[in-house]
Amino acid sequence: MVVFGASGDLTRRKLIPALYSLDCDGLLAPGFALVGYARQARHHEEFRREMMDAVTRHCRRTADAATRDSFAARLWYCTADYDDPKGYARLAELLAELDRAHGTEGNRLFYLATPPSVVPIVITRLGEAGLVSPRAAGSGWSRVVVEKPFGRDLDSAMALNRQLTQVFHEEQVYRIDHYLGKETVQNILVFRLGNGIFEPLWNHHHVDHFQITVAESLGVEGRGRSFEEAGILRDMVQNHLLQLLTLVAMEPPAAFEADAVRDEKVKVLKALRPLTDEDVDRLVVRGQYGPGRVGNEAAPGYRDEPGVAPDSSVETFVALAAFIDNWRWAGVPFLLRAGKRLPKRATEIAIHFKRAPYALFRSVGYETLEPNVLALRIQPDEGISLGFSSKAPGQAIRIDRVQMDFRYAAAFGAAPPEAYERLLLDSIAGDSTLFARGDEVRCAWAFVTSILEAWARRPAPAFPNYAAGSWGPTAADTLIRRLGDRAWRAP
Ligand code: BG6
Repeated sequence: MVVFGASGDLTRRKLIPALYSLDCDGLLAPGFALVGYARQARHHEEFRREMMDAVTRHCRRTADAATRDSFAARLWYCTADYDDPKGYARLAELLAELDRAHGTEGNRLFYLATPPSVVPIVITRLGEAGLVSPRAAGSGWSRVVVEKPFGRDLDSAMALNRQLTQVFHEEQVYRIDHYLGKETVQNILVFRLGNGIFEPLWNHHHVDHFQITVAESLGVEGRGRSFEEAGILRDMVQNHLLQLLTLVAMEPPAAFEADAVRDEKVKVLKALRPLTDEDVDRLVVRGQYGPGRVGNEAAPGYRDEPGVAPDSSVETFVALAAFIDNWRWAGVPFLLRAGKRLPKRATEIAIHFKRAPYALFRSVGYETLEPNVLALRIQPDEGISLGFSSKAPGQAIRIDRVQMDFRYAAAFGAAPPEAYERLLLDSIAGDSTLFARGDEVRCAWAFVTSILEAWARRPAPAFPNYAAGSWGPTAADTLIRRLGDRAWRAP
């Protein structure tokens, strides 16, 4: 495995700890070796020390000295510029040496953990240096893992796709979205399709609407400068939220295989109703946090964060209503909401079912019959709950709301593995089911780009419009109320 951008945060915080964890479980092949490639000058030994320090800080596992030593011995380093052909020649020599000494058998997993601006040059140079074999599987395979952001709009994402496919075949390209590696996200399909009772209800006859919320209590945490280039629509909605939407909305695939699953996800994205500028005015709300309090702590406004322009009009909150124009979901709103500096960290998919059709218990009144809500808690407090009505004990009929609750921690004990562990293992094993295909990314960008373009044609919004520690701008509540007197659920 060759990690470009090996001196960066992602390598230290996520990749190396995840690989170490896989090694502790005996899931890395004996011949596995990793080469870090970056501009900062380092010797192999220095790189090993730094990476083992990262393991100590960021890995959920502790292990004995022998395991640590054997993992460290799998790590190598190549100091070079990303555009210097000589660097790639040295890399080729080192890889050939590892093939001989370690038994890596000519298999190559290239991981692009660099800033987006250098991704095209790395791809080009890899191709020129002859480091990429045309095989996606079998011995001597090459694959490439590409981190987000995958472009910044439809045109740039398509340009990046073209650059990639000049050097790699689509089957060799693994576009990562770490949400797909989360246990609870993988469980969406198991829950829907591994049980007989939910799927018959999973359609417009029974579902009133969906609410998909990705709330974060943190702000931009020192990433102000890069967030200024993105905004939450690009940073979270284009990828994580639309991925969650495809998983809850897709048809059952013919097989649990990469292309069968992704074909169905693409169909959902293609059926997303395109938004005109007027639709964007009506169905999309953007916000930016001002100063406030999150929990007991004072929090600065977005414009006061380091690296952020004092008059920034970049959004840190989005709420929108999407419609999937197909037979299963006609007329069902999919309400999506993502925000920074909200009251708590919570990612949840709530399926709001239709109300009972008739009030048999007239004494309690039709309005008091609350609709059933099935909530898939993605994180934290991972679990699934179903809210339903029950007769409260007593002589009269009084109806109360109760919850049936499943918690991963209570049912399975151990903490779930990190998303990156699963995704790295799959990319090494050649299973791309949990990675986004080119057409999937293109369709997601097409939807998001229509919003970006509509915003660009509107005057700058009056930001900030919500206080840090609140649930976003009031316009988000108006949006959902207008769509049939509904309200956001507090996750
Ligand atoms: C990243 C975004 O993709 O996901 C960040 O760039 C965000 O802005 C993060 O904070 C959230 O990930 P998680 O796994 O903590 O929900």
